[in-house]
Amino acid sequence: FAFTPENQAWAEAQITKYPDGRQASAIIPLLWRAQEQEGWLTRPAIEGVADMLGMAYMRAVEVASFYFMFQLHPVGSVANIQVCGTTSCMICGAEDLVAVCREKIADKPHTLSADGKFSWEEVECLGACANAPMAQIGKDYYEDLTAARLGEIIDELAAGKVPVPGPQNGRFASEPASGLT
Ligand code: FES
Repeated sequence: FAFTPENQAWAEAQITKYPDGRQASAIIPLLWRAQEQEGWLTRPAIEGVADMLGMAYMRAVEVASFYFMFQLHPVGSVANIQVCGTTSCMICGAEDLVAVCREKIADKPHTLSADGKFSWEEVECLGACANAPMAQIGKDYYEDLTAARLGEIIDELAAGKVPVPGPQNGRFASEPASGLT
């Protein structure tokens, strides 16, 4: 693994922001940049970042495997669907969203669809519990999802469209769900 010259210069600039002996503190931005460059965090990419920071490979893996924003498996070229499976979303239908992913993408998480365009995984709470169930796609949240709407979103993405993120039923987190007032 090697950063592109531009990314290498950026990474070296990040490292200089930390005091001597604390270079490992730059691990998250460097892993993020490596992931942006490679698409996901390959073992050589993690090793390369660990080497730059003078860290043991396993310490870098511990960080990379802790956060859902880091991908340790290949992800779809169009989208990786991250379905929240924690309590609020589970109660409000996360299993139905997972079923859509199994049907339209692949039976198992962290597996590419046949065309390589999609992958999916179940993640822990993403902090949008008021608008459960929800999924993160790229950097966007899609909330108040139904199985049907998630299926449409996947179809729209496959067709090159950009589905409008946010609550899919038009409400916002500060508004009570209908029937709760
Ligand atoms: Fe799903 Fe919090 S439980 S966003």
